[in-house]
Amino acid sequence: MTRKAIWITRRLSDATLERAQRDYDCIINWDDTEHSADQIVEMSAKVDAIIPCHSEHFSAEVAARLDPRVKIIANHSVGVDHCDIPALNAQGIAVTNTPDVLNDATAEIAMLLMLGAARRAVEGDRIVRNGEWNFWSPAFMVGKQVTGARLGIVGMGRVGRAMAEKARGFGMDIHYHNRSRLPEDQESGATFHETLDSLLPQADFLSLHCPATPETAGFMNAERFAQLPKDAVFINTARGALVDEAALIDALESGQLSAAGLDCFAKEPGGNPQLAKFENVFMLPHIGSATVATRDAMGFRALDNLDAFFSGKTPRDQL
Ligand code: DGY
Repeated sequence: MTRKAIWITRRLSDATLERAQRDYDCIINWDDTEHSADQIVEMSAKVDAIIPCHSEHFSAEVAARLDPRVKIIANHSVGVDHCDIPALNAQGIAVTNTPDVLNDATAEIAMLLMLGAARRAVEGDRIVRNGEWNFWSPAFMVGKQVTGARLGIVGMGRVGRAMAEKARGFGMDIHYHNRSRLPEDQESGATFHETLDSLLPQADFLSLHCPATPETAGFMNAERFAQLPKDAVFINTARGALVDEAALIDALESGQLSAAGLDCFAKEPGGNPQLAKFENVFMLPHIGSATVATRDAMGFRALDNLDAFFSGKTPRDQL
């Protein structure tokens, strides 16, 4: 079989790149430079497959212009909101993702954000770091207790369930909303809410773990933030598109939210400078899955999907 050519749009883990270069003729974007729609289209004429990240956008407009040489987009991400899958499929292009392998890493970051936001980690670090820690009082740096509190999870898929498992270690009472109720053995005692209207008033802490789709775009709006208990803590490790950031800012300003922990933003890279003025907002630059082990596993899963496709099989993660 002749070696296939692939375009790897970002610098993936060393182990992934080593295996990719062993098995394919690779064009690698070593510097992680951004590519415009025109550049993506131009690159597509040079390869049989693309391994992109969530940062490359394959809209219907781009899909229609891709070179027919490209047969598969093997995403290095579980989220596929950057891909118009029906439009890509209509061009005869298969699309895969990398589910499962990033559940724990992402749930770790959600826990970190939850703890950091609730216990005022950013403010505390700043005070010590800047030499501003010049007194102590029992009323100093008081936060919100996580242990025993009620956690609302929106989206009880693989990452949502990993989050629930870790939060149970903190004695949290887990409530969730999902398109459908989980089987009892997967619920592990969590309380199902058929609607957001029912879940949100229960959620002292609310963590998003659902995909960004046209249906979920901006669903965390002013009305939804107002349904949370006063002083709730809001966590987002899913996608920025799920949140109306102006409404989030209002909820922080009014004290409806006591804190927020965010790994995802409407604008990435960059985030929202308006959010940076709040000391009770703990922000990270979309690093939910950024551990060595998980990056290797994501890269290998994308390559497994490519290998299957080019040997005539249906890739395990074909969407
Ligand atoms: C994902 O896999 O969707 C993560 O957000 C990283 O891209």
